[in-house]
Amino acid sequence: MYTQDQLKAMVANAAAQEVMQLAPGSVLGVGTGSTANLFIDAIAPHAKHFRGAVSSSEASTARLKAHGFQILDCNQVKEIPIYVDGADEIDPQGHMLKGGGGALTREKIVAQLATKFICICDASKQVQVLGQFPLPVEVLPMASEQVKRELESLGATVSLRQKKEGGGVFVTDNQGWILDASHLTIANPVTLESQINQLPGVIANGLFARRKADLLLVSTHAGVQKVAY
Ligand code: A5P
Repeated sequence: MYTQDQLKAMVANAAAQEVMQLAPGSVLGVGTGSTANLFIDAIAPHAKHFRGAVSSSEASTARLKAHGFQILDCNQVKEIPIYVDGADEIDPQGHMLKGGGGALTREKIVAQLATKFICICDASKQVQVLGQFPLPVEVLPMASEQVKRELESLGATVSLRQKKEGGGVFVTDNQGWILDASHLTIANPVTLESQINQLPGVIANGLFARRKADLLLVSTHAGVQKVAY
C-alpha cells in the first residue's frame, strides 16, 4: 500500500515522462497545488529541455524559478502544447472541480492556452458527480455578499474563505476573495460553470467543464492509469 504522498509522486513522475516527449524548446503550462509541486520537482532536472514555463500562481512561479525554469507571461504565448495540473475532483467525462488552493482563475487562463490538459491526481479525486468538494468562486471583494446570496439561491451553503494561518480573509494572487459553495447539485457542470460566470463580480469559478481534461493520469495502488477523454 502506498501513502497518498507516494501516490501523488507516482503520478507526478508519470506526467514528467509525458512532457519529456515534447520537442526540446517547447513551452510548458504548469498548475498549482501539492501534486503540481511534485510534478515541478520531477521535471526540475530537465528544466533546460524547455524554453520556459507559463505558471498558474505565484507559488508555482517561485518553485519553477528555484529549479531554473524561465517563466513566460501568458501575454507572450499564443498556445502551449501541454498544461499539467491537479484537481480536487474529476468526473467520468473529464470535467473537473478545482481551486482548493485558490489559484483557479490563473489555472483557467493558462489551461485555455493549452492544446492538451493533463490532469494528475490520485484515485481519491475520481467522483461520479462533482460537488462533494466545495466549489470555489473567486470574486471581486465588493461583490462578495451579493454573489454569496446568488449562490445560496442555487442551494449552496457559502463561506468566505479565510487564511489557514494568521486569520483574516484569504486573498488570491489577483487580489480576489474566494467563496466556497458547498451542497450544490452539479448535474450539468458546463451549464453551471457558465451560469456562475454570468454573476456580476465573479472573476472565475472552479468548474473546469467547458475546458475539461484531455488526459487523466491517475495513480492507484496498482500503478498509474491513463484515461483519455
Ligand atoms: C489549486 O487552486 C487547485 O486547483 C489544485 O489544482 C487542486 O486543489 C489540487 O490540489 P492538490 O494537488 O494539492 O490536491
